Amino acid sequence: MPWPPALYSGAGVNRTRIIPADAAGIARAAGLIARGLPVAVPTETVYGLAGDAGSGEAVAAIYAAKGRPSFNPLIVHVAGLAMAESIALLSPLAHRLADAYWPGPLTMVLPRVAGAPVASLVTAGLSTVAVREPAHPVIRALVEAVGRPLAAPSANASGSISPTRADHAARSLAGRIELVLDGGATEVGIESTIVAVEDDRLRLLRPGSITVEMLVQAGGVPVETGSSGSIEAPGQMLSHYAPAKPVRLNAVEADDSEFHIGFGPVPGRTSLSEEGDLSRAAARLFDLLHEADLSGFRAIAVAPIPDHGLGLAINDRLGRAAAPR
Ligand code: TXA
Ligand code: MG
Repeated sequence: MPWPPALYSGAGVNRTRIIPADAAGIARAAGLIARGLPVAVPTETVYGLAGDAGSGEAVAAIYAAKGRPSFNPLIVHVAGLAMAESIALLSPLAHRLADAYWPGPLTMVLPRVAGAPVASLVTAGLSTVAVREPAHPVIRALVEAVGRPLAAPSANASGSISPTRADHAARSLAGRIELVLDGGATEVGIESTIVAVEDDRLRLLRPGSITVEMLVQAGGVPVETGSSGSIEAPGQMLSHYAPAKPVRLNAVEADDSEFHIGFGPVPGRTSLSEEGDLSRAAARLFDLLHEADLSGFRAIAVAPIPDHGLGLAINDRLGRAAAPR
């Protein structure tokens, strides 16, 4: 492959183009994002695969492009404090951290405000949301051009290493996305520090270049780093949203006591997607689980979901929802 290669081909999209992250490139990226298509963009940490955080289908498209076998909640990128406050509740402690380290490589897990324009697939159904105001001018310009917060995990296929150059992202996601904005090599090179902000303490969820000492200094409170002193894989530290009601899977039929969630040929009481569209089903998954959980029914039954593409991630999450507790 020539270095640096400009075009990559693969399945799904014909070719993945790398274009300069100038004003024209940003405008083009914003247009794709408005159509629900994810775009790889530089941030100061790693390249991110950005999509409209307010659209469940746009977020499903991010998961589909990454080939992620499960739904972990994603980080929502904002430009400015006002946008952060439109989706999350910032306590005085959170404000001290924002004053010190935003914009920059710090992500805060905060309570999500009611009616926040964030799809439930972004937070994997949780009542908290991870927010970061990045410093890199390109993703900031893109958030401003789209005019909405952008969800962005690292721009690499699931299981491969994080991209710090446009070319890494293009190679990893070849044929799966339309566009990579080239803003050169990223400065930090590792993902942002993630901290859960609680009333009067902080809990480190992922270490990064904003260190524990820096958090203590700006926050003025202790930082919990886990009893063993080591950090587990971020996904394992999450308390995942789980329905309170029992969940039965692969239910082609349901009895009167069950809220039946359908898919494709199985109509159910309401359907994840009557057309059998896995992106649509992913986008609706947590909304329907919440609806079923809040309903008057005793239990939840879910139609079979095919085990390929985004169906793998849907089934991973359903398996957790149905696991004995
Ligand atoms: O540097 C970065 O943060 C990069 C660049 C692109 O900005 N983004 C990134 O995003 O690493 P992402 O979406 O891959 O990070 C997801 C991680 C989850 O695995 C989880 O650890 C944490 O963020 N997270 C997100 N929402 C959470 C929540 N509500 N509660 C706890 N952790 C959460
Ligand atoms: Mg990643």
